[in-house]
Amino acid sequence: MSSEYLPPSVGAELGRQALDAQAERNFYARGACSPTLPEIDGVSVTELIAQFGSPLFVFSENSLRDQARRMREAFRSRYDNTQFAWSYKTNYLNAICTVFHQEGWMAEVVSDFEYHKARKLGIPGGNIIFNGPYKPRSILERAISEGALIQIDNWDELSLVEELTRHLSKPLDVGIRVWLDAGIRPVWSKFGFSVENGEAGRAADRVARNSRLRLHTLHTHIGTYILAPGAYAVAAAKLVALREQIFAEHQHLVPCINLGGGFPSHSLLHGMEGPAERVIPPIEAYADAIAEVLNRLPAKKRPQLRFESGRHLVDDAGYLLTSVVAIKGVRHPVAVNADLTGRDYKDQMLLGEQARASYVMDAGVNLLYTATWYQINALPARVVNAPPSPVRLYGPLCMSIDVVRYSVDLPPLSVGDVVTLHPVGAYNLSQSMQFICYRPAVVLIDANGKPEIIRAREVLDDIQRPERLPAHLGGKA
Ligand SMILES: Cc1ncc(COP(=O)(O)O)c(C=O)c1O
Repeated sequence: MSSEYLPPSVGAELGRQALDAQAERNFYARGACSPTLPEIDGVSVTELIAQFGSPLFVFSENSLRDQARRMREAFRSRYDNTQFAWSYKTNYLNAICTVFHQEGWMAEVVSDFEYHKARKLGIPGGNIIFNGPYKPRSILERAISEGALIQIDNWDELSLVEELTRHLSKPLDVGIRVWLDAGIRPVWSKFGFSVENGEAGRAADRVARNSRLRLHTLHTHIGTYILAPGAYAVAAAKLVALREQIFAEHQHLVPCINLGGGFPSHSLLHGMEGPAERVIPPIEAYADAIAEVLNRLPAKKRPQLRFESGRHLVDDAGYLLTSVVAIKGVRHPVAVNADLTGRDYKDQMLLGEQARASYVMDAGVNLLYTATWYQINALPARVVNAPPSPVRLYGPLCMSIDVVRYSVDLPPLSVGDVVTLHPVGAYNLSQSMQFICYRPAVVLIDANGKPEIIRAREVLDDIQRPERLPAHLGGKA
């Protein structure tokens, strides 16, 4: 082994910009101003911060409903027998789930916690699709007794379902989850039974032979943020072929196929070039691709089609309002009204890292897990009359990995400036971590433009409630 220290070499695979990345060496015009976001649904972002504090998650109820309605229309106009479920894990705040339930969405859950949540919101078991690779015995028992659709993920779970349904007098509808190669890499092979090696057929066969079970759904979820509508056509065709095979062997026509989620939002991955509207296919393109496969079947043989989307429905409706709390990298004239000379600008370009301005924001990767993969747009609330240049956005954590954007073009900002991060509605809240900070409040702007708190800012008691101090450490016995 070499005694010299060899630093790990970091490629661009995480999308992080190398110091000499093209963007840093762009000496050509970047435009005189940058996009801003002064308000959301007519409500001023600076007033929202003044009223509810910073940082602040904000959701637009209109956007949630518009997106759900557009998706419903896209599919039902091409394939009427389509049903939708809301993927709880994407964002399980009660208010968000309720909006989708009001729009007619079922609940798709993947754990005991999510199952409890759906039931507590009043969703009957029969309107719950239960996915996930691990469903503990106690929750499976409850879900079976309440008539939820269990999507069986593996052989051990199938054995457990068989055991738990032995006493039933009438058969229980179940689904099996399968994985297949739809041309997307990587293939998500962690979940379900393989179609290509015959495992899915064998699992279906075992269900079909069990008089206590009725195979209701063939389910696959090929991945998330799938940019190729054609991949869904491949997946649909493979599920239809599996369904035909089951029919040939058991004269049972599986009533439903579920193509999971995976439709993209208007986020871009690191390294992708925008604008998002140009590179993200519209939902109608996915509906075309899928309906084309199913409509080829004779009308009597067409299955019910189900989806359980998350990202596509909620991401664009969610914003994170943050404030600049400190400015670093002072070679760059970051203060407002500072004299932004060509010389300073050039210095930054030539010196790169050393001269880069960075802003410390009051929200970081504790609240933005998805910043690892996605280029989250940073939109100042006010117009700054100075050209943008590449800056770094840090979060407030005592961790050097707490970087929301490694390089994003922004005009000079001041402490106290509000910057909105968008889109951030999918996964960030449910994956947020309570590390050294309180998690912020969440506000829903309703259809009348009224902001309503849907999750209060955390306080010490919220976090400490489950803790116990043993008597020998001074706690009460
Ligand atoms: C089984 C299942 N269904 C639906 C979803 C929702 O996916 P998306 O947010 O990409 O629509 C997921 C997320 O990974 C999932 O695992």
